[in-house]
Amino acid sequence: MSEVLNIEKIGQITDNAISEISKSVSKDEISNLRVKYLGRKGIIPALLRSIRDVDVVDRKIFGQELNVLKNNLEELFEEKINQNKEDLYLSDKEKSLQDISLPGRKKNVGTLHPTSRVVREICDAFLPMGFQVVEGPEIELDKYNFELLNIPKDHPSRDMFDTFWVDWKNDQGEYPLLMRTHTSPMQARVMETTEPPVRVLVPGKVFRYEATDASHEWHFFQVEGLAVDRGITFADLKGTVYEFARTIFGSDRKIRFRCDYFPFVEPGVDVSIDCFICEGNGCRVCGKTGWIEIMGAGMVHPKVLSSVGYDPEIYSGFAFGMGVERIAMLKYGIEDIRLFYSNDLRFLKQF
Ligand code: DAH
Repeated sequence: MSEVLNIEKIGQITDNAISEISKSVSKDEISNLRVKYLGRKGIIPALLRSIRDVDVVDRKIFGQELNVLKNNLEELFEEKINQNKEDLYLSDKEKSLQDISLPGRKKNVGTLHPTSRVVREICDAFLPMGFQVVEGPEIELDKYNFELLNIPKDHPSRDMFDTFWVDWKNDQGEYPLLMRTHTSPMQARVMETTEPPVRVLVPGKVFRYEATDASHEWHFFQVEGLAVDRGITFADLKGTVYEFARTIFGSDRKIRFRCDYFPFVEPGVDVSIDCFICEGNGCRVCGKTGWIEIMGAGMVHPKVLSSVGYDPEIYSGFAFGMGVERIAMLKYGIEDIRLFYSNDLRFLKQF
């Protein structure tokens, strides 16, 4: 048997390696040991090279022994690294710079943005009444934002919606794309692809080319509602909106409907609740009127129904749309809509 390599030597190396690896703690120590044993000039490769000096009869057995040892050490290194990943992540130098007496860094745990919170509250109020939540594109076609909603080109009611147009012309020289000015386009999109009955809620972001002030933002959120079926009447609209208002603003709310004009509904209304701050006596929030407007609504216009292929002789429906920030401002007493998107943590942390 060769002097260079014998079973005892392999046993001794095995023992040393195991004890050194198990004592090692830092990333540097482990990687140094790996180089020492398994590196190109390390102990194990040197032993493997020395096999050629061993008697031919013993070569096979030593070869096997050394390969087993090599694999075992690989495994040990692997285990060691996984065992203590976090610790190993720091080099010795980094560790020596750690001052464990310093107070820990507090992790900032985020909360829901007030808009998201109120979108959820609004949806939760309608879900028990059988509404389903759907979302639509923020960049919309003129066809859905206006035309299918009974707002033809050059109709004056387009002025109600100060529109950001997308600077892209089609082959006919038209600009068909815009940033949606309301969530109502989803009424047409849903009806186009669904047979009645339909009962959907559409939360989402909308855009208006407007100067900003305490009650106007150039982008904000709306929640749209639409219900279409046989025999739906204005009484269904009233009941649904009443239920919503009482869920969000308190069970003793009163509700008021007044005529208003929206091209896609007939009749159209604006819906108000009695002021929950002054109980209807008149204060700053309700502009001394005792009433607070919370949404636009109405019975879906027969033209809208036929434009999506529904027969208005058979089907009828109601629709409503409300501004989410407005609801949030009322609920939480927020006085300036610009606070929502100015990323001031002093404001956001209150929610
Ligand atoms: N889309 C309207 C707006 O942004 C709000 C609205 C009014 C939606 C009446 C409706 C509705 O569905 O029936 O001003």
